[in-house]
Amino acid sequence: MSNYLEKFEKMRVAGSLASKTLDMITDYVKEGTATNHIDKLCYEFIRDNGGYSAPQFYRGFEKSICTSLNHVVCHGIPGDRTLQDGDIVNIDVTAIINDHYGDTSRMYTVGNASVKSKKLINVTYESLNRAIKILKPGKRIGDIGHEIQSFVEKNGFSVVRDFCGHGIGTNFHQEPNILHYGSKDTGDELKPGMTFTIEPMINAGKYHTKVLDDGWTAVTKDKTLSAQFEHTVGITENGYEIFTESAKGYKEPPYN
Ligand code: MF3
Ligand code: CO
Ligand code: CO
Repeated sequence: MSNYLEKFEKMRVAGSLASKTLDMITDYVKEGTATNHIDKLCYEFIRDNGGYSAPQFYRGFEKSICTSLNHVVCHGIPGDRTLQDGDIVNIDVTAIINDHYGDTSRMYTVGNASVKSKKLINVTYESLNRAIKILKPGKRIGDIGHEIQSFVEKNGFSVVRDFCGHGIGTNFHQEPNILHYGSKDTGDELKPGMTFTIEPMINAGKYHTKVLDDGWTAVTKDKTLSAQFEHTVGITENGYEIFTESAKGYKEPPYN
């Protein structure tokens, strides 16, 4: 019953390094900053705090973080592109420290974001928040998906099917898959000691995605905007713990 406490201790360290990286980057997310520069700053921050960036060389990815702009759903590759007024961008950081992984992402707006993109960001954040709040032993994985899907669709948006959350611990991605859509009372039961991510990707239009020729960048097929938030969480005896909560008060958007 208590032999996962040691693991949780390490997940706290890894999770807080990842979330501190996002805290640190907040002030740089503004017009004119290249996504490459954001990548470099995150890489250095994680390294200087005793960790490694997990995406680096992960299956050939080569950058340290993902930067997913506007209609990019996930796995956007940092590059020369500078942030422009009106952009929305997801920054996804995964840190390894002491052999444990912390994985978290947030949405940021650049300059004046449209009313529609702000609503998309808020609904996406709130869907993650609602899913986390129900976590406890005895709930099932389908309950998580149901919580997200019902809230998102009520607000007129759609839940991406092609990517999901994942078990995490001493591996970046492991069992179980955490689908962000589904039905109540289905799927595996949550048990104390489980650690996984929830990372809903929500589209303003249809849920279909495609991967670009670079082999990574996933975009919405209909070119509508997409948003995502991600936390790494653990199941406790009677609830949950969020390992990637902001230490700086950047809990809910907007952050800038
Ligand atoms: N951080 C992403 C996730 O939430 C995975 C990125 S893999 C990469 O699972 F190689 F694209 F970085
Ligand atoms: Co993840
Ligand atoms: Co991630």
